[in-house]
Amino acid sequence: MSDSKLILISNAEPYAHKQQDDRIIQEKQPGGLTTGLDPLMQEEGGLWIAWGRGEADFAVVAEDNTVRVPDADGYTLKRLDFNEGEVQGFYYGFSNSTLWPISHNFVTRANFSPKNWQQYQQVNRKYARAAISEAEKEGWFWVQDYQLCLVPGMIRDEIPSAKIAHFWHIPWPAVEIFSTIPWRQELLEGLLGNDLLGFHNTSYLNNFLQTALCRGAEVDWEENLVHYHGHTTRLTAIPLGIDYEYFSSLAEKKEIREEAARIRDYSDVEYLLIGVDRLDYTKGIVPRLRAIEKLLDFYPQYREKLTLIQRVAPSRTGIPEYQEMRERIDRTVGEINGRFQTGPWEPICYFWGSLPQRELVPYYLAADAAFITPLIDGLNLVSKEYLASRKNGQLILSEFAGVSEQLDDAFLVNPYYIEEVAETLHKALQEGKEAKKQRYDKLNKTIASQDIDWWREKFLQRWENCYE
Ligand code: G6P
Repeated sequence: MSDSKLILISNAEPYAHKQQDDRIIQEKQPGGLTTGLDPLMQEEGGLWIAWGRGEADFAVVAEDNTVRVPDADGYTLKRLDFNEGEVQGFYYGFSNSTLWPISHNFVTRANFSPKNWQQYQQVNRKYARAAISEAEKEGWFWVQDYQLCLVPGMIRDEIPSAKIAHFWHIPWPAVEIFSTIPWRQELLEGLLGNDLLGFHNTSYLNNFLQTALCRGAEVDWEENLVHYHGHTTRLTAIPLGIDYEYFSSLAEKKEIREEAARIRDYSDVEYLLIGVDRLDYTKGIVPRLRAIEKLLDFYPQYREKLTLIQRVAPSRTGIPEYQEMRERIDRTVGEINGRFQTGPWEPICYFWGSLPQRELVPYYLAADAAFITPLIDGLNLVSKEYLASRKNGQLILSEFAGVSEQLDDAFLVNPYYIEEVAETLHKALQEGKEAKKQRYDKLNKTIASQDIDWWREKFLQRWENCYE
């Protein structure tokens, strides 16, 4: 990669600009993609192409729509602008009302609108053109996630010798589910324009191989290769890591520890749990709240002694499902707190709004356990951030979070079985000190060694190996 610049292409941008009083401020965007790739770009340099969706994004760019982030010594972010029809059809529509629910097994939530599909193709074409026009020689293109399935194929058509890789940040569903999409063949062919395609775990990778096989490709199950129309795509499974050092050193800071102590004092309970999620029906927030209710029913000794702090960050608010989800969460919190609340104590302390990563660390530090029970999740970095911020602590984790393959020493639960979740939570809270420590140490060792640098080096190494 050394003599050619890296072009990273994703829908979400790493930094957005917004107006605050009479000045423009820059905000780092939450989410695994930014967390994982911003440190890489800061080190490697290169160009990141993404949708400029911040309200003041285009007020700070140069004529060619680029801006240096995080500061003048950083890397180049090139912002694309979409019209209202594209935002509706490509982003809210095909990306988030078709590919997102399908990839997360929610077939009945998916819509299959040909108009959205048209917009998806059009916007993917815009991304591909922007990337091609920036490439030097044959270029190294690294495409991200489900919003950009067609980009690899489009670049390959224009530059047959291009070096193209893709990381898929969400689950890949079973072939029967993927095949409900009327344009499944086009999507698959777009992705098979890649030289390397990465997933978080082997179960998604195997689902992809099966999909490719059923849709006419030749598959090598030993080597994880897909041969299609004269091109070979290599698959790899590497779970995204976090900047372990950042979290563990932040957690040592005096002001962060003081803030954690303040949260702890304010909660004034023996058992404090934390949940942090982007608003999404995949995150299982309502069943998680119900599991707290069950716990308080099964084990009344936790009443007045346990609180779940649940933070939810707004997301995709233009989609009715997301608005409904927010209302359901509000109602459920009200109902459960109404049932059990006594004096100043509430079992659920609910916050709506997103917080910068740094401000989450005091919450991680304050909590005895992280309660992370998505119905399905591509990976889930919060579980890693929680562990890295601490020296002990319990993790109650959904077996359907992609990270459970890697963190199988956590207390794994089936989030659909609320009674079992409540029982497991009880077990985790009551576990003996020694067993707790051993469990934590194993988990911590994994995330410390398989951090963001490990992930990046592994991925880039496998990408370079494609050309040997
Ligand atoms: C998930 C996806 C990302 C996406 C993020 C936030 O983590 O894998 O591609 O950017 O959610 O969603 P949003 O729709 O706000 O970009």
